[in-house]
Amino acid sequence: MAKQFIEDLVREMTLEEKLGQMTQLTPEFLGFDPSRDLTGPMNELNIRQEWLDKIGSTLNAFGARKLKELQDKNLRESRLGIPLLFMADVIYGFRTVFPIPLAMGCSFDPANYEKATEVLARESAAAGIHLTFAPMTDLVRDPRWGRVMESPGEDAYLNSEMTRAAVHGFQGDDFREKGRIASCVKHFAAYGAPWGGRDYNTVDMSEGMLRDFYLPAYKAAVDAHVAMVMSSFNTVDRIPASANSWLLRKVLREDWGFTGPVISDFAAVSETIGHGVCADGEEAAKKCIEAGLDIEMTSTHYLHHVQKLIEEGRLDPGLIDEAVTRILELKDVLGLFENPYKDASEEDEKRLFLCEEHRRAAYEVAVECPVLLKNEGVLPLGHGKYVSGEDRGKGLKLGLAGPFAGSGDILGSWTVGGQVADNSFYSGLRVRLPEAEIVTAMTEELLPLQRGVKDVEDRVEEALEKLKDCNVILAAVGENSEDTGEAASKAYLRLSPNQEKLLFALRSLGKPVVMVIFSGRPLEIYPVLDCADAVLQAWYLGCESGLALADLLLGRKNPSGRLSMSFPYTVGQIPVHYNMYRTGRPIRNVADRYVSRYLDCPNDPLYCFGYGLSYSRFVYEDFRVEQLETPLCQEGPEGMSKVPFLRASVRVTNVSDMAGKEAVQLYIRDITAQVVRPVKELKGFQKIFLEPGESREVVFTLTREMLSYWAPSGGFLYEAGEFEIMIGRNSSEVETIRITAD
Ligand code: GLC
Repeated sequence: MAKQFIEDLVREMTLEEKLGQMTQLTPEFLGFDPSRDLTGPMNELNIRQEWLDKIGSTLNAFGARKLKELQDKNLRESRLGIPLLFMADVIYGFRTVFPIPLAMGCSFDPANYEKATEVLARESAAAGIHLTFAPMTDLVRDPRWGRVMESPGEDAYLNSEMTRAAVHGFQGDDFREKGRIASCVKHFAAYGAPWGGRDYNTVDMSEGMLRDFYLPAYKAAVDAHVAMVMSSFNTVDRIPASANSWLLRKVLREDWGFTGPVISDFAAVSETIGHGVCADGEEAAKKCIEAGLDIEMTSTHYLHHVQKLIEEGRLDPGLIDEAVTRILELKDVLGLFENPYKDASEEDEKRLFLCEEHRRAAYEVAVECPVLLKNEGVLPLGHGKYVSGEDRGKGLKLGLAGPFAGSGDILGSWTVGGQVADNSFYSGLRVRLPEAEIVTAMTEELLPLQRGVKDVEDRVEEALEKLKDCNVILAAVGENSEDTGEAASKAYLRLSPNQEKLLFALRSLGKPVVMVIFSGRPLEIYPVLDCADAVLQAWYLGCESGLALADLLLGRKNPSGRLSMSFPYTVGQIPVHYNMYRTGRPIRNVADRYVSRYLDCPNDPLYCFGYGLSYSRFVYEDFRVEQLETPLCQEGPEGMSKVPFLRASVRVTNVSDMAGKEAVQLYIRDITAQVVRPVKELKGFQKIFLEPGESREVVFTLTREMLSYWAPSGGFLYEAGEFEIMIGRNSSEVETIRITAD
């Protein structure tokens, strides 16, 4: 029930003023130069001057002083003085830049994501932002899609836990509080599953696949009280999300109880015409409003056509009032009617941007995200003699080659302008090893494929000559961050030819080689895997990359990242992920012919979900599963399903001489169901720290709800019966206990 003053305000508003609130324009239309490139194509908007003092929100304009001026202009020129809502893409970086979300997913610790979004909220709130278009939580299974870097990964449960934490980090318990901003989960729904991994392409899947895998993380955001939802570009069952009333009204509002506003993605209302689902802007306006889309981002079909639709009785004006009420309620919950500037403060900008506390937080998260994929006796460098910092590398001749050796391209593609001191990989090593001789070679930066640059110059011979006497060689390779993120799909995932050539050449030197990969997606590294004795997947770690990587390689920090997205042997395997559906012809042994397999490649990925090495060694013992006596629940079957009824426990011991973190993972397998079920599903994870020799019992509980699936008749269904419960260090290395659950 809207507050009385909002009801009164809606009654007082003209239709054009209501439609203005339902329209979001880029800031230059409001007299403000955009702080960043547009994030989508600008269509011809034919905007009328008389609309400009009625617009309800803008995006990606930053700066306390400038936004205060913009708000003052709006309050001065608009008839009713409704405050503007300032929204922005504060995804994983503002001035302080954290690791990309795919990297944070690999930390297997939601606390890292919450720590990051708390900092981002403080910095962006000081810069005048009220709401962020984050977290993105599209489930991703196809590394050809450039936006996998924005997602926590390929698993519904992990993504849900990460998303819940991210929303809370942005919003706190009340985003009216200073230093908090409203959060908008995106892209609803299933934008991460485009055919061919090609951005903006068709998405199509069964409702069961959608409900069991692709929707849960958005629901986790709704359950965490996310303020807004963004509808995606793609189709869901052949209807674009922005015009899809099953998605926006049935699922989001009726099934999940979401009451906030829904905003389209960039010009997605216009794109319903491109999809061929709407004949023109008039039909686009009608279908999207009827579907429940409240705010039209960067197109103006609502302003152009709704008046006529209503006059001709082809659109219910009540839908307009519903939408405007939701928008005004969000502005009210943000406190904008009392304080239209919220936290905008030049003084706080100076105090908070890249402050020591924030950079420390960025470092602490950055060291938790890289994944050690291979280590054959090379890491930690010097076998730990640099850990204390007393040995400053005197006498060490360290080779550093490749386009990411000294690159500042360590922030990823969705940052607002993280200004970082030089914290490249080289500078981190230099700080930690001030007396080492660091020999660099072939360090020319790899420029974007987006701009047609396919490779770095071949200077391999020169590099070999320079590096041949080094004790150990670090190869810093990867992809330019502009070639990840939006509109950055790739059909080939290998490193560029000259980077591969460098790696093969380094192998010929007979020296220990450590490959460090800077990328926003799993790359196809199998062809060069044998060129390195150790491989660290570094992702893009943000503004503290250099020190974080140096500390991990030197053993000052122990790698604890675990893959949240599978690494394929080859792009030909895609989609390849850990929770594939079972088939009627599973491989029993490699000699089988008439089974579901390739002739030239394994079915399993090169590196599986949950995989990652440590400098420590953890032993799992005493794995047990027991059925709990579950008290009758007052809420009946619905409530019963939420009561823990299975308990799984395992003892984990650090049997090495180095303290470290382990992500203990719990998987289940439903043996028989009405529909095909995955070979396994993650239903629990705990990241624990163990000192050398320390041992701990790790306990998980399961509810019937966690073991349910979307039934053919609709609704989530739990069925008593046979299950396998698995615990282990990744999705492949598990111990299994079979139970009959009732
Ligand atoms: C872009 C992206 C979306 C972003 C929006 C506003 O096209 O798809 O993630 O939030 O436009 O910049």
